[in-house]
Amino acid sequence: MKIDLLLTPVRLDQIALENKTVAVIDVLRCTTSICSMFRAGAKAVIPMTGPGEAGEMWSKIGSESAVLAGERNGVKIENFSLGNSPLEFNADNVGGKYVITSTTNGTPVFSGLSKAALVLTCALVNISVVAKRVHDEKRDLLIVCSGREGGFSIEDTLCGGILIDRLQNEYNNTVFLNDAASLAQLLYRDNGDKIHSAIEEGEHGAYLSSIGFSEDIKMAADIDAVPILSLLRDGRLIKEEI
Ligand code: MLT
Repeated sequence: MKIDLLLTPVRLDQIALENKTVAVIDVLRCTTSICSMFRAGAKAVIPMTGPGEAGEMWSKIGSESAVLAGERNGVKIENFSLGNSPLEFNADNVGGKYVITSTTNGTPVFSGLSKAALVLTCALVNISVVAKRVHDEKRDLLIVCSGREGGFSIEDTLCGGILIDRLQNEYNNTVFLNDAASLAQLLYRDNGDKIHSAIEEGEHGAYLSSIGFSEDIKMAADIDAVPILSLLRDGRLIKEEI
C-alpha cells in the first residue's frame, strides 16, 4: 500500500485522488467533533467552507431539520447555535438533525476531495475503525492533515503516524511512505506513550487551553473513545454502520 501524507492541505489541489482512499485529520477539533456529532445522533454532517454558505445551506434545509455549528479562532461563530467543542454535542441539540458545520481548517478540506474513491474522517477517537476500513478498502491512501492556517500541526501528524503504524503493524500491510508519512511515523514512535501531553503542548493545544477548552484536548487524545466511522457522500458526511 502506498501511503502519502500531506502535512497541510496547501498542495491538495495538485494531487491525483482517483482510486485513492483519503483520510482527513483534524484532531483539534473538527474530525473529533464530527465523531461526537454522530455519537449524539446527528443524521448527517455537512462540512462547509465559509459561515455564509453554511447559513445558506441552513436556510435551504430548514431550521427544523438542521443546526449550524462552527468556530472561528476556536470560538462559536456569531448567530450559529453551536460551536466546535466535541463536548457540546448531545441528543437534544443535534439528534436526528443535519449538522451544517464550518471550521477554520478542517471543513474546507472536504470540498476538494470529490474525485477520491473513499473519504473518511479520521481522529484519535476513531483511529482503529478508520485503520480497519482503510485496510479493507485495499487502495492506496492519502492522509490529509488539516494543520493550522496553512502550517503543520503536531496533533494531526501524530494521528497520521498512528494510522500508518496500525496499517503496517496490526494489519501487516507492506507500506511505501512519502517522506512526510515517514516523519509522522517517527513522531508517533517518539510520542506514543505521551500523546495527551504532546498535543496539549502543541501550538493549537496551548491556544485552546488558553481560551478554556482544555477538556476538549483530553477528549481528543482519548484513543478509540468514539469508534464511529463517517464517510463523505455527495458533499455530506454520513455514518457507516460497523
Ligand atoms: C479547525 O477546523 O480549524 C478546528 O477544528 C479549530 C478548532 O475548533 O479548534
